[in-house]
Amino acid sequence: MKVSVFGTGYVGVVSLACLLRDGHDVVGVDPVSSKIDDLSQGKTPIQEPQVAELISAGHAAGRLRATTDPAVGIGGAEMLWLCVGTPSRQDGGIDLDSLTGAIQEIGRSLRGLKTRPLVIVRSTVLPGTTENKLVPVLESASGLSVGRDIQIVYHPEFLREGSAVNDFDDPPKIVVGELIPGAADRLLDLYQNYQAPRFRLKLAEAELIKYCDNLFHAVKITFANEIGALAKELGIDARIVADVFCADRKLNISPRYLRPGFAFGGSCLPKDLRAILRRSAEISVEMPMLHSVLNSNRSQIERLVDRIVTLGPQQVGLVGLAFKSMTDDMRESPYVTVAKRLIGEGMSLKIYDQGIQPERLIGSNKISVQNALGHLETWLVSTLDELTSCELILVNHPSVTADQIHTWLDGNITVVDLVGITDVDRDRGTYEGIAW
Ligand SMILES: NC(=O)c1ccc[n+]([C@@H]2O[C@H](COP(=O)([O-])OP(=O)(O)OC[C@H]3O[C@@H](n4cnc5c(N)ncnc54)[C@H](O)[C@@H]3O)[C@@H](O)[C@H]2O)c1
Repeated sequence: MKVSVFGTGYVGVVSLACLLRDGHDVVGVDPVSSKIDDLSQGKTPIQEPQVAELISAGHAAGRLRATTDPAVGIGGAEMLWLCVGTPSRQDGGIDLDSLTGAIQEIGRSLRGLKTRPLVIVRSTVLPGTTENKLVPVLESASGLSVGRDIQIVYHPEFLREGSAVNDFDDPPKIVVGELIPGAADRLLDLYQNYQAPRFRLKLAEAELIKYCDNLFHAVKITFANEIGALAKELGIDARIVADVFCADRKLNISPRYLRPGFAFGGSCLPKDLRAILRRSAEISVEMPMLHSVLNSNRSQIERLVDRIVTLGPQQVGLVGLAFKSMTDDMRESPYVTVAKRLIGEGMSLKIYDQGIQPERLIGSNKISVQNALGHLETWLVSTLDELTSCELILVNHPSVTADQIHTWLDGNITVVDLVGITDVDRDRGTYEGIAW
């Protein structure tokens, strides 16, 4: 395949080197002539393990060219990989000038050509950028209709500098965002021999995945470092703790607790977090990330209450009050907080929770719910049918079926689903979650 790589920085050069190694004909395009001079002589303009050898071999095989002229770069290309920089602006936003500039040059060059290469954006851009900013630039510069005459794909890059060639060869995943289904077919063909799960998404979803990964990596690093700072002050070797923490692949290093949903609660997480924050304050160890976790959790509750207030029901049904389904533990249950807030907003409630028998509640569990909601019997109902008089039903536990939700939606009841019941027809009536 003939591929042109626009932008010969870290991402562009690594891509170019690996594409050469895979037997493709590659043209590097960059306005910086020193980089083009290097590539034209079979040298790498960046320092990265294995890259020099791959470029030298590709050059010797006569499959590498480089140019500062975009029109020359596009000639005959079946694919254009855009690896142009998207640096930070002063205000923290991203500077798209180089990327839109490259797209404009590509669009103008396409006017004089019959070929319609697949345009692949690899630069990191905020969700919505490709569809709302890059597509219009490409269309106005080329006079073509994107989706009909020419296809664009967003294809995030997950490489790490220092192990970039290994990451290209063995990627954690191959993600493509498409404007129309099938747009990325040719690109995925190129990865035929790569072992990695493939994900076809919408453009904005693929754009967000890249940020999601990087934000999570930042959170992981910060988390590990805050624990490290605390451990050192307590005279504990944090590396030993980290080894055991990371050995747990069921709860710690796993998809557990990583699905968007509602706030955490219960008798452990908030209590343990407060205890560590208290202790860290005593020994003067700052843990700003963990400090903000409780605030963030409260915000999740407030977001839901605000949303319900906006929807304006008089009567709200709750499926689930305990902090977890099939238990009767209401200590620090976020649903108890929500119920209290909704009562405070003047709404009447009907609560269905098959795990709760008020007469059997004892100790701190009983006291906490009594303090928040008074007599629980006032609000509890014993069947789901009794919720049909509510204008809005809040699904807090996964103890209802999709059919039940469809019945409520058919009866013009708004359903806010905090747990993501499977197989619900999401386009049917007034159905929403807190994260979708
Ligand atoms: N470096 C990484 O580890 C990494 C990893 C994943 C994603 N990314 C993302 O990939 C993109 C590129 O990153 P990078 O580190 O390779 O950037 P870089 O700054 O090293 O390289 C960008 C290149 O684009 C060139 N360029 C500017 N305008 C151009 C134009 N009109 N036409 C052609 N080339 C042009 C520049 O001269 C430069 O050589 C960024 O959006 C970045 O966020 C980077």
